[in-house]
Amino acid sequence: MISKAVLDDIRFRCDIVDVVDAYITLPRKSGAIKTLCPFHKEKTPSFHVNQQRQMFHCFGCGAGGDVFRFVMMHEQVEFMTAVRILAEKAGVPLEFEQGSPAASEREQILAVQEKLAQAYHTMLRKSPEAQEARDYLARRGLNADIQESFLIGYAPDKRDAIFQWAQKNGFSPSILQLAGVLAGRNEEGHGASAFYDRFRGRIMFPIRNEQGRVIGFSGRTLLKDAKTAKYVNSPETPVFRKSQVLYALDKARREIAEKREAIVCEGQIDVIRCHQAGFTQAVAAQGTAFTDDHARILRRYADGVILVFDSDEAGRNAALKASAVFLRAGLAVRVASLPTGEDPDSLILREGAASFSRILQQSASALDFQINLLLTREDIRTEAGLLRVSRAVLATICQAPNAIQRDILLNNAARRLNVAVSALQSEIRPLLRKTGQPETEVPPSGTSDIPRNEELLAEHLGACPELAGLVDSFLPLDRISSPLCRQLIEAILESRREHQDLTTTISQRDNESRDLSAFAARILSAPAKTGSESSRQEAVESLILGIWRNEWQSARRTLEQQASGTQDEAEKDRLIAQAQQLTTDLKRLQKWSTAEPVLRLYLETLHASRPETAP
Ligand code: CTP
Ligand code: MN
Repeated sequence: MISKAVLDDIRFRCDIVDVVDAYITLPRKSGAIKTLCPFHKEKTPSFHVNQQRQMFHCFGCGAGGDVFRFVMMHEQVEFMTAVRILAEKAGVPLEFEQGSPAASEREQILAVQEKLAQAYHTMLRKSPEAQEARDYLARRGLNADIQESFLIGYAPDKRDAIFQWAQKNGFSPSILQLAGVLAGRNEEGHGASAFYDRFRGRIMFPIRNEQGRVIGFSGRTLLKDAKTAKYVNSPETPVFRKSQVLYALDKARREIAEKREAIVCEGQIDVIRCHQAGFTQAVAAQGTAFTDDHARILRRYADGVILVFDSDEAGRNAALKASAVFLRAGLAVRVASLPTGEDPDSLILREGAASFSRILQQSASALDFQINLLLTREDIRTEAGLLRVSRAVLATICQAPNAIQRDILLNNAARRLNVAVSALQSEIRPLLRKTGQPETEVPPSGTSDIPRNEELLAEHLGACPELAGLVDSFLPLDRISSPLCRQLIEAILESRREHQDLTTTISQRDNESRDLSAFAARILSAPAKTGSESSRQEAVESLILGIWRNEWQSARRTLEQQASGTQDEAEKDRLIAQAQQLTTDLKRLQKWSTAEPVLRLYLETLHASRPETAP
């Protein structure tokens, strides 16, 4: 965890106007700053930067937030990376809350691997012993440009090349061992003899994380014999988690976000070939099966994926497995079919980019792909065959977390299998319960479900924090149903109480996805609803009354229902009397002058009936 003080310091030094200007060159640097939004296509400017509040907001697409949020969105990185980028810019050293040694160890591993990748690359380009490797790459059509941009390298066929390199360049062998490029040989060994190189006589592919830092390597042998492993990868290390790594995501993520779709391959050479041929939205897993983490990462950029796997039995089965994983993450999944025996690399080399592009366009939905495959294995004219096929298909469909998506898939399957969709629907219900999928879609926790009166209240309080006293006295914050609204109003009250500026308070209370500052940017940049102070005060008063009226009306409904449900006459009378009292009180809640005494009394009773928390 980075300390609050450091975050404040970074925010203080990184004026949002300068930061935004560095990315999109603002037309002016002060006053009302308005320009074309970098987050959606538009012809007239609706992107505002507010220097006073240190926030940005687009009235077109709703994007908004503080300086961290801007960098997160523009660079498409997570909060911690945005912090790192801005800290670097501001020259603020990143100290972690309890000076974590783990963090500096990670940093050392990353730094040494970047240097090592450079060294492997130089070796490939210059060293006489890399001639065979250079010839090999030339034969495979991986030219100097692509070698450069993917920093492809060569690990010499020696036991101690990396140890010698480390000695010469002042890197500690123990860090290289943690990085997994040196392996320990035995306990007694000293110096070079204590270690040996993991990668020997191999073409080296550095593997980078989303931010482009080298986290590991994959090495391909030059030999053809079946005894040598074709690929050797870095082991799991503090910086290399195979289940979360997508090869070339650092290069592909912009294009993926632009197209909202990723091309997913099996091998890194496939990915490199795709990029070389202009398909720069291609990624691959790192020699492992696809995981929920992979899917979650892609979900941040894409709405769908096209799987382009090897065209053999193993590749088709891998595509089925991967489909389920990506569907489960809510991604639309298509599967491309290459001619038998081809992979993306061989196909593009043989037939060119246009042919590959055509195959991508013709790719089937994951469901159609599965049905096509099952139809080659099963006969659905027999009852047993149809049952087996439907069961397999339903198992796939119930992976989709979204009811609408499932409905589309069910209709599709019904058509393909020539059965009634109602039959499939009733068969999927028990499966859904088993997998824990909700039968009906839960709306995403966005801002759309925030009651308008709560939003308006926050807007007025933001524009005129002096009115916060009214909320303090007349509206306990637990009456505000939307968590975001509640947090924002809490922040407004706190900043006033602590004499701290609102942006700082919001920023300190915000989580890593910067939801609160995004919401605050939208609410606080809403056009002033009313001019004069007195009418703003009236507006806040009537909003507070509205929230109470809603609450009391629903309380009255409950009382009436209870009254009509009970057999006990005395109880019934009591409930009816309570409901009538609420009706009288509700009339008083129409006007502030009559409401104020009622509310005071009510809140005092409420307060008195609660246990005291502090003396
Ligand atoms: N892989 C691995 N270990 C192996 C074999 C494969 O980690 N022993 C991973 C590699 O990431 C490889 C991917 O699985 O890129 C796909 O393997 P494969 O299809 O065999 O390799 P290709 O990418 O086709 O490589 P090449 O064209 O060089 O044979
Ligand atoms: Mn291949």
